[in-house]
Amino acid sequence: MSIPTPHIEAKKDDIAKLVLMPGDPLRAKTIADTYLENVTQFNTVRNMFGYTGTYKGKRVSVMGSGMGMPSIGIYSFELFTFYGVEKIVRIGSCGAYSKDLKLYDVLLADCAYSESSYAKTQSGTYEDTYTYPSAALNQQIEANAETLNIPITKGTIHSSDVFYRENFDDYKTIYQNHQAIAVEMEAFALFHNAAVTNKQAACLLTVSDSLVTKEATTSEERQNAFTKMMEIALSLA
Ligand code: HPA
Repeated sequence: MSIPTPHIEAKKDDIAKLVLMPGDPLRAKTIADTYLENVTQFNTVRNMFGYTGTYKGKRVSVMGSGMGMPSIGIYSFELFTFYGVEKIVRIGSCGAYSKDLKLYDVLLADCAYSESSYAKTQSGTYEDTYTYPSAALNQQIEANAETLNIPITKGTIHSSDVFYRENFDDYKTIYQNHQAIAVEMEAFALFHNAAVTNKQAACLLTVSDSLVTKEATTSEERQNAFTKMMEIALSLA
């Protein structure tokens, strides 16, 4: 396959080596509008908007991933394989499994646990229970967060295929058996794709709700926490 791909209409070189991926394509637009200069849009297919611009003079792209592993699996694979992208950093939200996490905390995933068949189905050979981010990229993120004076929590996260479980308390078993401190729906597939394509991936999350306390953030409050995470992600440019 070559470019354009079935899902991305960008031309060669339209996309930077570093791509930040929120789940929501409109969030990608807001990030481009708010933080980037010299912005061009490189994708509108399926409204999965993607933009390239500069941050402090450095080229960076931002594109929606959609929700769930099939969606981020398609976009991240095409970016890595056909568009020469080297690094993808997912910037998302998560639900806390650990009572030690507070709403708006910023997490850096150092492992993704999943029941998903994504990795096994994609390659047949790789680890099918845990996938991992790039150690080099995580080190850079940690160092930059420290420079920016933004505290982050590292840990295993759960990449779930299901948002609405019949039994929400299932999370307790996953927390216990896999030490997953929070849940989201994409990182496991992203980390796998980076591994099989020899590229780099990482995942930054802000806590938007807690399965322990049942609290959830308001959209306005979420914006604040999001800004902290964005500063860290953009510092990679
Ligand atoms: N479950 C799955 N994904 C999520 C959640 C959740 O509770 N919160 C934010 N992303």
